Amino acid sequence: MGKLLLSQGQVSILFSAVIVFLFTLALFLSGYVLQQRYVHSLQLAIKPRLPKPLPAQAPLQPPTLDVKWARGMGERLEVDESVQQAMDAPSIDWSGLGYVQVVKDHSELCSAIMLLADLQEKRSPAKRILMFPKAWLKETSEDDWDPQMTTTKRLLRTAARRHGARLVPIEPAEAGADEALASSYSIAAMYSLTTYERLIYLHAPGVVLDASALDSLLAFSKSKPMSAFPATPERKELSTSLLLISPSHETYQQLRERLVSQPSTDLELLRHAFDTPESLIAESTLAMGNVVYESQSLRDASDDFNATSFNEMTTFVRLREPDMPGPEYDVPYAERARLRPQNAQAREAWEKVYEMFRQRRMEVCGLDLEYWMPPAAEQPRAAAPVEL
Ligand SMILES: *[C@@H]1O[C@H](CO)[C@@H](O)[C@H](O)[C@H]1NC(C)=O
Repeated sequence: MGKLLLSQGQVSILFSAVIVFLFTLALFLSGYVLQQRYVHSLQLAIKPRLPKPLPAQAPLQPPTLDVKWARGMGERLEVDESVQQAMDAPSIDWSGLGYVQVVKDHSELCSAIMLLADLQEKRSPAKRILMFPKAWLKETSEDDWDPQMTTTKRLLRTAARRHGARLVPIEPAEAGADEALASSYSIAAMYSLTTYERLIYLHAPGVVLDASALDSLLAFSKSKPMSAFPATPERKELSTSLLLISPSHETYQQLRERLVSQPSTDLELLRHAFDTPESLIAESTLAMGNVVYESQSLRDASDDFNATSFNEMTTFVRLREPDMPGPEYDVPYAERARLRPQNAQAREAWEKVYEMFRQRRMEVCGLDLEYWMPPAAEQPRAAAPVEL
């Protein structure tokens, strides 16, 4: 019975201490494992989605192309992407790739921010850039308080803070031009963003249904001054619905010189500066589905139009109708019913994109639709934007 032996009381205290220690350890470990799992799933959730490679450069047969334009249907081209993606994805430098919006007038600002917000929500890893007249940054005194300017400043802050957009103020294309006029500014300004390798411009207003095809275009295209979406399936002229550009001082200079010698709209300027079909987007990219779809085409939908496949296949819908104001306006029901597509499936798709736009406008900009009066016998004071 030496000193080394512990009394019964001491043994039981030691035993309890060990038990308590083991339980604490088990509790700690299980908590740690749970936390790691949670962190991992959180990381997965916020990780930007990586783009798929572009479809192979196999030309499409013209009839297929026609069918796509007219019906909004067709097959997405299947590519074996796993190997390619594993090889390419880590080397993509997203800091040089982005989406750009050029706003010239207060009334265009919300729709531009909505597109950038859509791309953010669809987890595009590319940058977002918003260009707008520098004049909007001027400090206003209490006396000339302007509700429109207040909204504009609020929206610019939203774009930067909530949607991570880089704000880039621009000057009129021609020195001395009236900085309050939308026509003094040009889309050519985006060529001044020479720190970027490639940029995509989408024509607002519209809705982005899926950003992955656009991200693929950005990530895997060759850098060219201009790759524009064609205005028609015949590929004779470019449109400004979607532009994939590679900015350079040289092109910027050329476009500005042209603007000074001959003031023109964006479309005229770009059609003059870039030859087709060289400056059109590759035909093979159309195999990715409807990269760009104009809402008015839904009115010519064929009988076998399928709204489900349309939603699955379509990347960007530009909202534009020849005989209606933009989607920012609240068109009375009777008028809308007269203009909407006849085909039931196409009508479903059409109403869905307009409703999506209305909801996003409220979410992103906190703005309701604008009041609109049909251009009846009265003067067309109708389409004047009323900012509240
Ligand atoms: C549309 O296509 C989907 C499959 O893509 C199919 O399940 C659905 O039944 C089609 N709807 C109509 C109305 O044909």
